[in-house]
Amino acid sequence: MRVLGISGSLRRDSYNTKLLRAAEELLPPGVELEVWDELKAVPPFDEDDELGPAPAAVASLRDAVAAVDAIMVATPEYNASIPGQLKNAVDWLSRPAATTPLRNKPALVVGASTGAFGAVWAQAELRKVLATAGARVVEAELAVGHALTRFDLRDELGEALEVLLTELPVRRVALVA
Ligand SMILES: Cc1cc2nc3c(=O)[nH]c(=O)nc-3n(C[C@H](O)[C@H](O)[C@H](O)COP(=O)(O)O)c2cc1C
Repeated sequence: MRVLGISGSLRRDSYNTKLLRAAEELLPPGVELEVWDELKAVPPFDEDDELGPAPAAVASLRDAVAAVDAIMVATPEYNASIPGQLKNAVDWLSRPAATTPLRNKPALVVGASTGAFGAVWAQAELRKVLATAGARVVEAELAVGHALTRFDLRDELGEALEVLLTELPVRRVALVA
């Protein structure tokens, strides 16, 4: 089974990308997490561009989401919401509504920020946006506040991943110890 990790941050040393890398190590044998790293190449959404062939990065994103059993999105908080580049990618993914690869796709939302609250507002926004686009957002949350000083997230991250795993076709018994 496969999970696609998408980080809402483009930053090289992003805490959110690190969260995805940490999740990679916690998943049990048989469940792979692949981090998609082409977010910066996704052009601004333009309805006029829907008439022609999809831009390469958009096609890649659609294919990547279609190919997995679930997605895990880690978002920073930018001005109390999600970064524009992440919203833009979801806008592309949501169209056309009839064929969006997000339809019914289990989705885990987590987030890290350097502020006290761990991107909770951004996560709430992202859950709303993904659910509107058709994804099945799972009831789990991981808000990593003060990201600069947080290193051991194993237990909290593990609990959030457990909830996502229950949505996969075959339930795996346990995360990697
Ligand atoms: C444009 C911008 C807006 C930000 N707004 C918030 C905010 O509203 N709340 C917050 O907790 N942190 C905010 N931050 C700080 C981010 O949480 C911090 O930069 C974080 O490390 C970004 O995630 P990353 O490490 O994955 O890149 C903001 C950062 C930027 C660049």
